[in-house]
Amino acid sequence: MAPISATFLLFFSTASISFSLILSATIIEDLNNLQPPPDFNTTLTNNCLHNPSLRYCNATPFNLPEIFKSTIVASHLCNESKNPNCVESFPKIDLRSRPKIAPLYLSFNFFWKYCPLTILTIDLSNNSLKGSFPSDIFHCSQIQALDLSHNDLSEDVPIQNFSLLTNLTFLNLSYNHFSESKISDSQFFKRFNSSSLLHSGLLPDHRKFRIKAILLLLGFPILIILTVVCLCWLCFWRPDFLPRVLQSKHKFTPSMLKAATNGFSKKNLVNKNEGVGIYKGLLRDGTEVRIEMYWEQVSRNNRRKFIEECKVLVELCHKNLVQVLGWCDNRRLRSIIIEWVDETNIEMWLSRSAPPWKQRVKVLMGILEGMCYLHEEWPEVGYDLKTSSILLYEDQEPLISRFKVGDQNSSSKKIYRFGVLMLEMITNRRPWEEFEGGEAGFVEWIRMYYLDNLENVIDERMKKTGHVFDQAAASIELGLKCMDLSNGRQPSLDQIFNNVSRIHNTCMASASPNLKRLHGHRGEGH
Ligand SMILES: *[C@@H]1O[C@H](CO)[C@@H](O)[C@H](O)[C@H]1NC(C)=O
Ligand SMILES: *[C@@H]1O[C@H](CO)[C@@H](O)[C@H](O)[C@H]1NC(C)=O
Ligand SMILES: *[C@@H]1O[C@H](CO)[C@@H](O)[C@H](O)[C@H]1NC(C)=O
Ligand SMILES: *[C@@H]1O[C@H](CO)[C@@H](O)[C@H](O)[C@H]1NC(C)=O
Ligand SMILES: *[C@@H]1O[C@H](CO)[C@@H](O)[C@H](O)[C@H]1NC(C)=O
Ligand SMILES: *[C@@H]1O[C@H](CO)[C@@H](O)[C@H](O)[C@H]1NC(C)=O
Ligand SMILES: *[C@@H]1O[C@H](CO)[C@@H](O)[C@H](O)[C@H]1NC(C)=O
Repeated sequence: MAPISATFLLFFSTASISFSLILSATIIEDLNNLQPPPDFNTTLTNNCLHNPSLRYCNATPFNLPEIFKSTIVASHLCNESKNPNCVESFPKIDLRSRPKIAPLYLSFNFFWKYCPLTILTIDLSNNSLKGSFPSDIFHCSQIQALDLSHNDLSEDVPIQNFSLLTNLTFLNLSYNHFSESKISDSQFFKRFNSSSLLHSGLLPDHRKFRIKAILLLLGFPILIILTVVCLCWLCFWRPDFLPRVLQSKHKFTPSMLKAATNGFSKKNLVNKNEGVGIYKGLLRDGTEVRIEMYWEQVSRNNRRKFIEECKVLVELCHKNLVQVLGWCDNRRLRSIIIEWVDETNIEMWLSRSAPPWKQRVKVLMGILEGMCYLHEEWPEVGYDLKTSSILLYEDQEPLISRFKVGDQNSSSKKIYRFGVLMLEMITNRRPWEEFEGGEAGFVEWIRMYYLDNLENVIDERMKKTGHVFDQAAASIELGLKCMDLSNGRQPSLDQIFNNVSRIHNTCMASASPNLKRLHGHRGEGH
């Protein structure tokens, strides 16, 4: 240190002697008024000879006014900083808590450019300094301590430049507003730890971090709970919003039905009986459905039975059976969801459109196909063969639409019912409305007339050509056989199927030129 002090002394002794009397004036006045002494050039040259490390020695020729001004600032600043003996040494710039003059001194670039080599400590803390990092300080590359804490400095800190300050051991940048740039310089962190950067903006704020951690700690479980609640809602109320793989195929919830029917609106109500409401609904996937709602309360046992029945019904799959899509089972309501078929039943069809013979046979064929399917695959499923409960869709394809699981009816009863249906379709008469004694009266009437007066028995509106008479007569005979419950006279379902399909084939072929050949089989049924 000795040579540096000596140089410093040398630097000031020559410069200060000439203006020591005037230094009481303010620094700005001094800078404006004072001129370098005539021998200033020589003084500097001599100084550089003694100590070439002095900062102005590098820049020759000397900028005499600027170097001189820097000596004026240095002398003021040394005094302001209460250095013990400014003539001999200037070890410390202490402008702590001097917000009025600290910015002024910082603004003297020429001073920092020639920063005196003796300065080892710079303290500019607690001055509300604004703006970016005062980079001029890096000119004082020999300093060992730098305190810029408690200011309002902002923007980036030039971390790289700290490598210039090789002797710096104390640094405090705490309590500023620097922008949080990632300090990747590990060299910097080997020298200084986080206690130099408290609340400087350079490190992630611990309080902010704690708030984030708390939010995360609270938020994560809340998120999970919300997700679970959401999933539960979906599962129990609206499973139709779940991905298809997660949906249970046939189970519907009351909320789904409510959504499908606009909240069970009157507009969607198709029919209402005691305890049963039939709604037209639109599912989320665009399927139109018929929703049969049962509001009545039932015992737990009956509910279980209901579900078991539904499980069977959804398995039924045939072109002549209405497709049961699923069910809803709830304490308040039970419901069966069935594909929507526009409401035309055979009864309406017969009376409104007086269909030709060929179409009637086709419909009978379809009904038989459905019956055979149920007979073979689902013998425990019963069905209703009333003309009012068999539906028709576009292509005159019949649909059996009412089922009963666990049906006690024998197949003999089913064949009897088919017989009635068949005769009704040929005659377009309603046994229970038009005959005394209902079906028995109906049968009696047919028996009485069909042999001699066939024309009066079959539907009068139907166009009757020769082969239609023959086939209708054969069909009436078959229908009567079906209704004959005396021992062993009733044909089996297979026999009925064969007979009707033969008639059906003949009908289909009759449109073709082979008419004559087929006429050879005339009277087969007799
Ligand atoms: C140095 O400071 C003292 C008071 O601390 C003052 O009396 C003196 O005039 C100052 N000298 C200069 C050169 O500013
Ligand atoms: C200072 O002195 C040197 C020689 O020592 C000379 O070359 C230079 O021109 C002088 N500068 C001024 C500004 O007079
Ligand atoms: C900062 O400076 C103000 C005056 O400007 C002073 O009251 C306060 O005590 C100082 N704080 C610190 C920590 O030095
Ligand atoms: C750091 O200190 C050493 C010895 O005290 C000195 O030799 C060296 O020049 C100093 N470094 C700077 C950049 O001033
Ligand atoms: C700080 O470092 C940058 C390069 O990293 C350099 O361009 C700049 O001049 C340096 N500033 C000072 C004051 O040394
Ligand atoms: C930080 O470094 C200083 C010395 O520079 C040391 O006194 C202090 O204990 C260190 N703090 C931590 C948290 O490492
Ligand atoms: C920097 O200053 C702050 C506030 O004055 C203080 O809490 C902290 O300990 C200081 N850091 C160091 C390394 O001295």
